[in-house]
This record gives sequence, C-alpha cells and structure tokens, in this order.
Amino acid sequence: MQNYLELLNEAKEILKRNTITVTVDGKPYERVIPSRDYYVHQWLWDSAGIAMGQVHLNEEDAFNELVSLVAGQWSNGLIPHIIYNPRESRYYPPADQWQTTRFTKHGIKTSGITDPPLLAISAEYICDNASDEQKKRDFIDKVLPSIVAYHDHLKRYRDPEDCGLLTIVHPWESGTDDSPRWDGILKRIDLNMIPTNIKADVDLNRKDIRYRGSQERPTEEDYYRYIYLIELFKDLSWDYTKIIQETPFAVKDILFNSIWERANEALAALLHTYGNQEEASKYQRWAEETRKALTNTWNEAYRQYCDIDVTQGNHRVIAVPTNALFMPLYAGAVTDQQLDSLLHRLSQADEFYTKYSVPSTAINSQYFNKERYWRGPTWPITNYFIIEGLKKYKTRHKDVDQLANFLTSRTIQMIRDNGFWEYFDPIDDGTKDKAKGMGCSSFSWTAAILIQLIHAAKSL
Ligand code: GLC
Repeated sequence: MQNYLELLNEAKEILKRNTITVTVDGKPYERVIPSRDYYVHQWLWDSAGIAMGQVHLNEEDAFNELVSLVAGQWSNGLIPHIIYNPRESRYYPPADQWQTTRFTKHGIKTSGITDPPLLAISAEYICDNASDEQKKRDFIDKVLPSIVAYHDHLKRYRDPEDCGLLTIVHPWESGTDDSPRWDGILKRIDLNMIPTNIKADVDLNRKDIRYRGSQERPTEEDYYRYIYLIELFKDLSWDYTKIIQETPFAVKDILFNSIWERANEALAALLHTYGNQEEASKYQRWAEETRKALTNTWNEAYRQYCDIDVTQGNHRVIAVPTNALFMPLYAGAVTDQQLDSLLHRLSQADEFYTKYSVPSTAINSQYFNKERYWRGPTWPITNYFIIEGLKKYKTRHKDVDQLANFLTSRTIQMIRDNGFWEYFDPIDDGTKDKAKGMGCSSFSWTAAILIQLIHAAKSL
C-alpha cells in the first residue's frame, strides 16, 4: 500500500480544499462541494459518496457531511438533489428558480427533485467504519429520523403502484443526466410546446458550457426540456401526487432502484442496531420487493435489465446498453443465468471491457460518444457500484473475483495516470499526451472513491 500514499494524500487535500462552511440558523455547517470549477453546491449522492471516503480520514468530517445534507430536507421528507450554497451564483439553474424555500427550514434553498438515494447506504458504511461509539450514537440520533422520513416519502410518492420500483421524474434524478437511456422519452417532449421565455432563459443563462466544451455537455434542446420540466413541477406546486401523473418524463430507472434496494437493506440494518425492530423488518420487506422487481426487468431479447418508461400510464421497455445494466448486481438481484450474461458483456472488448472500464455506454453502441458525459466516459462512482456488486457473487462464479480485482486496480490506475477528474475517456486511441480525464478537475467524488477502493483493497 506504500505506493498509494502520495495518491491518498492528494485525495485528502482535494476533499479539504472543496470543503465549505455555511451558516444555517446561526449554526455553522461543513460540507464538501463536488468541485470548485462549477459544481459549487452540495449534491445528495455526491455528498453521500464523499462521506464514505471521509470516514477513512476523519470520522467527524463524515458525520458532519451527512448532518449538513439532511439539514436541507423538506417538511414532507424529500431530500433534494441540490442544497444550494448561499454565497455562490456560478451554477444554472439558480437557487431561486425552484421556488422551494417554503418547504425547507431556516430559509435553506434547494432544488425540488431528488438524486439516487445513497444516503442510508452511506450512513451504514460510516457506522461500520467509525470507531467512536458515542459520536456514532449522536450522529445516528441526528440522521436516522431523516433517513426514515426520506424513504417513507419516496415509497409513498414514487411507487404509487406499490410495485417495488420507484419512478424518477427528471433525467437529473437518475444521476446519469445525459444518458442515452433518456433520449426516446425526451424526444417526445415537443420543443414547440416549450414556452419561448424558457428557451431564452436557457440561451442566456446556461453556464455549464462556459466551463466545459459543449462537445462534453447535453445539447441545448435537452437543456430546454430539463428546465421545462422544472417549470412544470413548479406550476404543480411541487405536489408529487400530481407531478407523477402529469410529468412527460416518468421512468422506473434500474440504477436508481438498485440503489433503493441497497438503501432499504442499509436502513433496516441501522434500525436493527439503533432503532425499532418492527420498523427494520418493514424496510427489509421493501428491499425484497425491489430485488424481485429488478430481477423481473430482465429482458431476454436484449439480454439486459431494462428501465421502464411509465410516462402517463405507458409501459415501454428502454433497452440501451449502458453501465446501468450492471447495477442489479449491487442490489443482489441477479440469477445465475443473468450473471453469466453480465460477466460476458463486462469482458467483451467491443462492449464494456476497455482500457479504463466500465464505459457509461457500450463502445459498440450507436449512442457511444467518448466525450459526452454519461454517453461513453467512465465514472469512478458507477465503477464502485459494479465492483461492490460483483463481490456479492464471489461464490457463485469463478470469474467474478478476477473481474472485481481487475476493475478495482484499473479504476485506481485511471485516477493515478490522469488525475482526479470527474470522468475519463474509456478507450486508448493511441494519442500520446492527450488528457484522458474530462469534466471538472479536483473532483471530490473521485477522491472519495479512490480512498474507498484503496481501503477495500487493503482489507482483502
Ligand atoms: C452531474 C452528474 C451528477 C452529479 C453532479 C454533481 O450533474 O451528472 O450525477 O451528481 O454532476 O457532481
């Protein structure tokens, strides 16, 4: 592990540099922003992942990160995907665009949609890895009621059919914002229907392409649609009973739901240790339902798990080959036959086995684009989920261990070779001196995942 020391120090420095302090109701809260380049607020699933890295450096920082995150929770239980930093305006859409302050405490400004629900998983990971029992207790007292309220909110409003799979209502809720999985649905949102003032606002104020080349970012048309959805939800007063019925984007996302499955297992485990046994079995039951429902999203014709487009009562299968198709591993939802198929695809050089695996879209897919985000580049966070998922199947297949180790060392190498970027070019095109890292630099998630991967490799 000696040779990782320098890399670990760099990761530690990045997390330190990206830490900000905000004052809420007269109290200081520390939180880590994803990057100083552009993502200058707190993002739900970034923050949860960051805290999982922090616990290996300083337990207190990990506790603070999640306490700071749940401060942004709405009175109805929703934890929004962005908790805005009041001192920053370098991000679009701005805090005031959402008009959500009436739902939060102490005037905290947030978005109105959520993110993959990584929070409970992070809280469980922190408790498993922290050693100060008293501080752990204090932490649990502060965050556990919020996690329970968040899960109850999601189940109530996002699974009205009680089918075990939650519905997301905006591509940003998937965390894989620009994924080609969403192209078909987004195209059905007719651009002529979008008011000109929304388009003008995007044209004038969109900021991401000032920081990154437009070849890496979503198209202007898709940005019109993203903002149109926000305006629509705002018109519906952020009432999710109505939003679910009226949104032109409603999807049972396999990545989001794989995390939901694991999050309910984590919440059940936390309640088992620190809370109420009856409540624990409720979330265990939810996890089981989701696991079964995920297994059933397998589509034999496409040989993959498929998202389901449930917009306005529809039921359309989305079969785009992205790295999300490996996520049911993380939820433990994979049958033996499905496992063979997944391992095969993960090992194919024309699909997902590349210099820096696992590309966010299969390289032989018509949708593959090695620069555009979530359409090709490799992300450390999704690799982490796939590695953790593979580990669950160690005893079920002889190749699993080797693949998990390969992915761990490649992900570490990818960061060591190129730096702490947001995402990476997955293929080596032979061009020397070309930076393989893309997106924002000194990226907190990348630093935190590196710490976790090295920690896990050490304890093998
Ligand atoms: C991008 C990613 C999203 C992430 C956010 C902050 O929008 O698509 O997953 O949470 O950046 O890092």
